[in-house]
Amino acid sequence: MKPDGSQIILATALLAADLGTSQSCPDYSSHSKARHEPFSPGKHALSYARPIPACRTFNSSTIESLVANMSDVIADPDLHRLFENTYPNTLDTAIRWRGFAANNPEEELTFVITGDIDAMWLRDSANQMQSYLPVLEPDDGVDSIASLYRGVINLQARYLLTAPYCNSFQPPVESGIPPADNPGANKDTVVPGYDPAKVFECKYELDSLAAFLRVSVDYYEATHDAAFFGRFQWVSAVQAVLATARAMMRPTYGEDGAVLDSPYTFERQTTRATETLANDGLGSPVARDTGLIRSAFRPSDDSTIFQFLIPANMMFAQSLAEAVFIVQELGEGAPQGLADEMRTLSRQLREAITRFGIVPVVSGNGTAVETVYAYEVDGYGGAVLMDDANVPSLLAAPFMGYLAATDPVYQRTRARILSAKANPYFMTGPQINAVGGPHAGPGMAWPMASIVRILTSDDDEEIVGVLREILSTTDGLGLIHESVNSFDASRWTRQWFSWANGLFGQMILDLRFRKPHILQQSFQ
Ligand SMILES: *[C@@H]1O[C@H](CO)[C@@H](O)[C@H](O)[C@H]1NC(C)=O
Ligand SMILES: *[C@@H]1O[C@H](CO)[C@@H](O)[C@H](O)[C@H]1NC(C)=O
Ligand SMILES: *[C@@H]1O[C@H](CO)[C@@H](O)[C@H](O)[C@H]1NC(C)=O
Repeated sequence: MKPDGSQIILATALLAADLGTSQSCPDYSSHSKARHEPFSPGKHALSYARPIPACRTFNSSTIESLVANMSDVIADPDLHRLFENTYPNTLDTAIRWRGFAANNPEEELTFVITGDIDAMWLRDSANQMQSYLPVLEPDDGVDSIASLYRGVINLQARYLLTAPYCNSFQPPVESGIPPADNPGANKDTVVPGYDPAKVFECKYELDSLAAFLRVSVDYYEATHDAAFFGRFQWVSAVQAVLATARAMMRPTYGEDGAVLDSPYTFERQTTRATETLANDGLGSPVARDTGLIRSAFRPSDDSTIFQFLIPANMMFAQSLAEAVFIVQELGEGAPQGLADEMRTLSRQLREAITRFGIVPVVSGNGTAVETVYAYEVDGYGGAVLMDDANVPSLLAAPFMGYLAATDPVYQRTRARILSAKANPYFMTGPQINAVGGPHAGPGMAWPMASIVRILTSDDDEEIVGVLREILSTTDGLGLIHESVNSFDASRWTRQWFSWANGLFGQMILDLRFRKPHILQQSFQ
């Protein structure tokens, strides 16, 4: 979402009040908007954007050593600076509070803010953690990356048990941090209702549910610490996720044609069409018996046009299938039948995505027909042919592990996503060419989509070209912005977007193994 001025000011006040070293630490919302010396010794002269050590919100010697080691791996001084600034950004700036649950002194909690908005998103925090997956190791230490992960998983479980339809949450009471005001959401009418002291915003997004499974699977696959998942509220939270997903499979009409009650409706007083739902909060009708799960909003926090959002269904199917292994490891610690239920739902979802999510399009000269993945469908034959920059996206399908990048339907879909002729939200221009979306609007390309393009490409020329565009469009600030005008890189949104920063670092670490020669290249 786009913070308005009042939210930024509020975040500033709260941060200053809470950080121990508050007096001398600048608010990062302002710090990240100014250039700081020493500049990188290349033609982009990028700012040094990290806060001074005393003002960082988490210290990790592993990350420090990795950042230092990467100076040998990355030859270009500007590219190394961009990595150095971005990769630690969540640890440097967004670990807002860590502690233990009031009712269980063993239960770690980590409150991770998205950056310039003082709230924790399920999606962002799962992704913010994922950037540190390459350095995640089994570790009981309270100052480890593993501890941060456990704290995020525990807090997400609590959030999902509190308000499973919501996307963004307030600090846990144990932190003593007062809940943030969200002027944009104050007049929302949402079913089911929620407590604004606990919830920052309540947009139901299927990928938020998938994010909880994803961060859990990431932790489990790196540590094999199955016991952790039996200790606190994880199993109950998985059951809440499944119950919510099943409820959101309900179609608009019953067999007799009567309109069914929707478990979720959302209305906002707004001038932006993408901030509210059609049909008095219900959204556009969806057909019966598709096997797909609805999503009222996209990962951009914009409303869907058709509620069967295919990338979110892909991510949910994939994360669910991988989470089965955790449940199996729990043995008697998990309810009987839970693993089977998850496995079956995942398989049925994949079938539904193939059946309803792959659609014919007329291409080229108007006579040839080919099949591609739609971004959204309604099950009646309606399809939205586009991609949106946020993850999950169609572009990211191989990155999410849903399919192989060589999959022919994916390859055809990808070619259209990366074409201004076929994707209404592909931005082109002299500065940067990338997928955007309605959230920041036409003209605004999203570097996050450029990063995903690199992560899903094996083509050196494509990777180098896209990397060059990312590197040259930070407006000298050396951070990854949410969106950048494709004709004028001095026009951008969100100076402090920790997830996008982490994703850039994650992509560089991926290239280190996959394409080390590219990192040895000059970008001057
Ligand atoms: C991180 O380390 C610095 C010293 O290098 C210290 O001043 C700061 O308080 C530490 N931050 C945290 C969150 O422990
Ligand atoms: C950095 O390099 C040193 C020396 O080769 C090595 O011992 C250390 O493990 C590396 N750190 C990381 C995080 O890879
Ligand atoms: C249209 O393009 C397809 C391949 O893209 C080709 O097979 C077909 O012959 C073309 N039709 C005409 C009328 O040019």
